[in-house]
Amino acid sequence: MASILLITASPYGGASRGAILAMQAVENLQRNHPSLNLVVRDLSALATATIHSSYAEAVVGGLAHDAEAFVLSEELIRELEDATFVVIATPMHNYTVPASLKMWIDFVLRYGRSFAPIDGVKTGFLKNRPTLVVVTAGGIVNGDGRAQPDYLTGYLGDVLSTVGIHDLRFVYLDGLASPVRAEQVAADGAQTIQQDEVFGLGAPAGEFA
Ligand SMILES: Cc1cc2nc3c(=O)[nH]c(=O)nc-3n(C[C@H](O)[C@H](O)[C@H](O)COP(=O)(O)O)c2cc1C
Repeated sequence: MASILLITASPYGGASRGAILAMQAVENLQRNHPSLNLVVRDLSALATATIHSSYAEAVVGGLAHDAEAFVLSEELIRELEDATFVVIATPMHNYTVPASLKMWIDFVLRYGRSFAPIDGVKTGFLKNRPTLVVVTAGGIVNGDGRAQPDYLTGYLGDVLSTVGIHDLRFVYLDGLASPVRAEQVAADGAQTIQQDEVFGLGAPAGEFA
């Protein structure tokens, strides 16, 4: 069933500042595309999951997609396949994605299922779809890179492109460690989302559903 997929990667789940802002985009989508189902994937629930040897062997050994070791992987890939729109709210943890989102990546980027090399180039098997990534960070991310490195933006962009999702926009709530700045970036982020041509308040209704 066609859906809006909201993925939250913060340990605070739906209460995180990124998820709260992401919900604004989700509410706009729900208003503009009322037929779409909302699917929420809270990755903090994956915190105890890990990549077992059975999964590694199943991937490397090219087991059938219905193999026992692929149950969670299949569930996560199908959620993504069914999504007309994807909204990801992720904090930066030590310059990159949190472990919970890395876990999701390891289950979703599956050789032979969601991508494979074609003419030597890793090529995605999923259709492209509009995707919004809300990044939260205590420090400054979107600056000149002197404050701290950013291995999140390029990495997550490459990961999503690998499975075929290229229609990406990133919104940053950074510098949240400063309460004064936090208020300002939250207001700016909200405005950016409201003006977005797909995720915004005035985005065309029904076009993608
Ligand atoms: C384990 C851990 C690592 C973190 N690493 C970074 C970092 O590298 N850079 C940064 O700017 N903030 C870092 N932070 C701060 C979070 O990004 C920040 O608290 C963020 O605002 C959380 O947003 P949320 O409310 O959406 O979860 C880290 C936080 C934790 C818990």
